[in-house]
Amino acid sequence: MPDMTEYPPEPWRIKMVEPIRATTREYRERALRDAGWNPCLLRSEDVRVDLFTDSGTNAMSDRQWSALLRGDEAYAGARSFYVFEQAVRSYYGYEHVIPVHQGRGGENILSRCLIRPGTHIAGNMYFPSTLAHQELNGATFHDVIVDEAQDPASEHPFKGNVDLGKLRAVIAEVGPAAMPYLSIAATVNMAGGQPISVANLTEVCELAHANGIPVFLDTARAVENAWFVQRREPGWADRSIAEILRALCAPTDGAVMSAKKDSLANIGGWIGLRDSGLAERARDLVLLFEGLHTYGGMAGRDMEAIAQGIAESVDEDHIGARVAQVEYLGRRLHAAGVPIIRPLGGHCVCVDATATLPHIPRTEFTAQTLAAAVYLDAGIRGVERGGVSAGRDPETGENRFPPLEFLRLAIPRRVYTRAHIDLVADSVIRVHRQRDRIVNGLAFSYEPDHLRFFQARFKPTQGTSIFAEGGVE
Ligand code: F0G
Repeated sequence: MPDMTEYPPEPWRIKMVEPIRATTREYRERALRDAGWNPCLLRSEDVRVDLFTDSGTNAMSDRQWSALLRGDEAYAGARSFYVFEQAVRSYYGYEHVIPVHQGRGGENILSRCLIRPGTHIAGNMYFPSTLAHQELNGATFHDVIVDEAQDPASEHPFKGNVDLGKLRAVIAEVGPAAMPYLSIAATVNMAGGQPISVANLTEVCELAHANGIPVFLDTARAVENAWFVQRREPGWADRSIAEILRALCAPTDGAVMSAKKDSLANIGGWIGLRDSGLAERARDLVLLFEGLHTYGGMAGRDMEAIAQGIAESVDEDHIGARVAQVEYLGRRLHAAGVPIIRPLGGHCVCVDATATLPHIPRTEFTAQTLAAAVYLDAGIRGVERGGVSAGRDPETGENRFPPLEFLRLAIPRRVYTRAHIDLVADSVIRVHRQRDRIVNGLAFSYEPDHLRFFQARFKPTQGTSIFAEGGVE
């Protein structure tokens, strides 16, 4: 077991800085009330350490910033597209590379190409934007992840694995002809950044292919997944991250990528495919929804930054330090008795909200309440992953309450230092110690139709605060 204070020096030094500021408790109370108790609606300048997401919030390297100047902004056939295409082909191994403005742009295209009303998609847990596009196109999602993924305390090393028995049961129930594809993620964000093993993914692909079902991989954090494979999966310890990344993609039929995560960029994405007929159809739709098939909603400079970012993402020092920073925060919280999802994932630490605030019912959005309390304490912003994120069942209109209800603290890559991470740990530990003072949950005052966690507004279920008088000091 690594010791709690283990924290490798960052393999970079700081060349450019961006000021952040501390605020007072009174200031934050006003800001959060104005934001409808939803940290997502705060202005970022009112946030001290922003762990809302690791998506598009990465610090680019000097080499990426220089690559921006090489951006070819030609409308058609830009040189930067070919640089980008070559990088995706060589690191991920997909022949056809179709640019999109970010991950959900790719999800839209892939879902429209393949899903017909009444069809069924199976996958290792849902992700809100992926699920939304599948459901908009008329599919029903079936979660076939291993049971351990739903248990915050389970130390299973690959909680992103598919339960092959569950997958066989779905295939038998709905029939393979009604399954346009499998939607597999590496890592699984909604389980807390948990990896899938190469062995499991390979078996999943074998079973799917034997039934004529293609498999598409969500590669947003596949490099982080590769790091866990190197550390945890027998037979992979001596292989490079780049080799493992290729091995993860190899058995799949394609991928949808948000380059805002692993690839260290601030915007961008791609669809990677092997089938040329499907690639033609996807390019047709990209023209309608994203932009020409040689830029897909990105500027030429974005494609240059992503190409350079992909190469940096598989650097062993980079990925080791990245995951070590996440683990350091997790170890500090765990040592102080804060209930977190185990084992630690690749991009975030997830505080189990139902274990922290068992007295706040899930109908009062326990994790949203915890997110508000953590912001009020020291200006740290995380995001709810629970009932609010899961939305309503499209058929019954009822709120969905997935087994996990947590506050996600996602760490941007190469942005914060150890001192910032200690500030976060101290604050979350303080809120946990004073959790009994949080007496009210939250209710919607405005509920949007789609991806409601982004724009929803709330009010305390009683009075004007979630705290008993006096609040958290
Ligand atoms: N897939 C996964 C696993 C994601 O985590 C995300 C985004 C997407 C797809 C969609 O990509 O944002 O580029 O359109 N996740 C962000 C997050 C928003 O905070 O977890 P996008």
